[in-house]
Amino acid sequence: MSELAGQHNPDDLDVLVVGSGIAGLTVALGLAGRLRVAVVSKEMGGGSTELAQGGIAAAVGAGDTAAAHAVDTLVAAAGLGDTGVAELVTAQAAEAVARLVGFGARFDTGAPAREGGHGVARVLHARGDATGAEISHALMGAVKDRGLPVLTGTSLIELLVEPAGRTEGTRRVVGALVYDGALKKVRALRARTTVLATGGYGQLWAGTTSPVTCSGDGLAAALRAGAQLADLEFVQFHPTGMAFGLDPRPLASEALRGAGARLRDSAGRYLHEHNGPGEGDLAPRDVVSRSMARRMAELGTDYCLLDATPIEPEELQGHFPTFLRSCLAAGTDPGTAHVPVSPTAHYTMGGVLTDGDGRTTLEGLMAVGEVGCSGLHGANRLASNSLLEGAVVGARAAAALLEDDGRAAPRPAVALVEVVSEPAPGELIDLSLQGGGPAAERAALREAMQTYVGVSRNGAGLELVGAALAAAASSSEADHEPLVGARAEVENMRQVARATVALALRRCESRGAHWRTDHPGTSERWRTRQVLALSAGGMAVGELAVADGGATEPALSVAPAAGAQ
Ligand code: SIN
Repeated sequence: MSELAGQHNPDDLDVLVVGSGIAGLTVALGLAGRLRVAVVSKEMGGGSTELAQGGIAAAVGAGDTAAAHAVDTLVAAAGLGDTGVAELVTAQAAEAVARLVGFGARFDTGAPAREGGHGVARVLHARGDATGAEISHALMGAVKDRGLPVLTGTSLIELLVEPAGRTEGTRRVVGALVYDGALKKVRALRARTTVLATGGYGQLWAGTTSPVTCSGDGLAAALRAGAQLADLEFVQFHPTGMAFGLDPRPLASEALRGAGARLRDSAGRYLHEHNGPGEGDLAPRDVVSRSMARRMAELGTDYCLLDATPIEPEELQGHFPTFLRSCLAAGTDPGTAHVPVSPTAHYTMGGVLTDGDGRTTLEGLMAVGEVGCSGLHGANRLASNSLLEGAVVGARAAAALLEDDGRAAPRPAVALVEVVSEPAPGELIDLSLQGGGPAAERAALREAMQTYVGVSRNGAGLELVGAALAAAASSSEADHEPLVGARAEVENMRQVARATVALALRRCESRGAHWRTDHPGTSERWRTRQVLALSAGGMAVGELAVADGGATEPALSVAPAAGAQ
């Protein structure tokens, strides 16, 4: 890949894309030859796109419609999906797939597959369970063919912000401060618009399918710059992350259960024999994950088993080559032995608040893919809608940038009405998240999130983690030097964790992927999205009502933080 400095004077950039998954590269390719665009990335192909085993959902089968796909998306979203966004994303799905084919992606021939939550078969795969890898390679090839400048080994430190217009407190993003790992140098890259495509925050949990790059850097930088974040409490736990002791955990796709694989407890008994009605192996992911967690607690183990022996060896090889490879590498032959699996943080629905074009609440800043929160997924994401969102919203962001002549206009902000009051340090358990260096602190945070902010949560556990995070944050607040590397990642992870815990604690109900054992029912009071930003008093929250015709858009009323960088 080409070196950014050799191609462009960074001061000349119209658009800086941070991240190189399906969403970021779709933006860059949509602008190629029209605006001066460059991509910076921790690692080309090192994000979640490359690992995605599920497919891409699009209503292309006979008798299927985009409207039916939108309905399934909104049902999965458990009352918090944005209808307008769901309709536009599903309506543009077929076009997005055609664009990927145009960039060189080759999808498997034959009828689309059916996955959990979809009323009909509408999921397209490539090379069986290597869909993400196929798309990623095609997009990276297209970027290279077009000579787009790319700077790899580079991580985001901060967004560069300056006052905008005459209204006091409003500001715009004018580029990013990045750390160039090869040169071991901090660089300021100025651009009319910065597009965050940095992925989600799955690395906050000890057991995750998210790659190590997903430490929430984009979210944390956006928060510090003054952007609003939304829906952070909703994290999808996939039932079958493989428990081989790897980080990230390799995924055993849900499609395996669709093809006949069965879940067993660690004693070898079929899991569904212990479950209630509607809790079979192919129930929604959150339901299966909770059933597994319950059984694991009963047996005092930390895994269940996936029995893939009912699947013929040819089918395993043809449709699940990635799964087969991962098992064999760990010394398990899934044709003859059961595979240890456990509920695993898989997809983070929350992110930087955007509209369906990737516009954030800050001028000059867009967010696309998992780092963004367009409202498509609501409280729970429908299978195979994540690659789709990246492809559609990425293309729409590029179109919006062309319309805005390279300087992205903001979407309306949400009124922030309440300053978050964080719990005081706990008296009974010392949950220290500090000391021992960045690697130890990262591990401690991830274990705490897995234990207390996992498949199910309760107020006491959330308060414990919230207090420990607040204590860790106050001890590092004095440090004004730009942080880089492992230390920067830990601080970003803590900041996103703190915001996530605040919203999880505030939402006193169970809905979608957010399950509170102390508030097991779903409440009409909480049919609202939570929005959070830094404020003069710390963190402030607001609510975004969900109307059937889309989300309402009230104006900002609480002052944002004064010291955004
Ligand atoms: C899977 O194949 O089980 C994962 C697909 C997805 O997360 O959309």
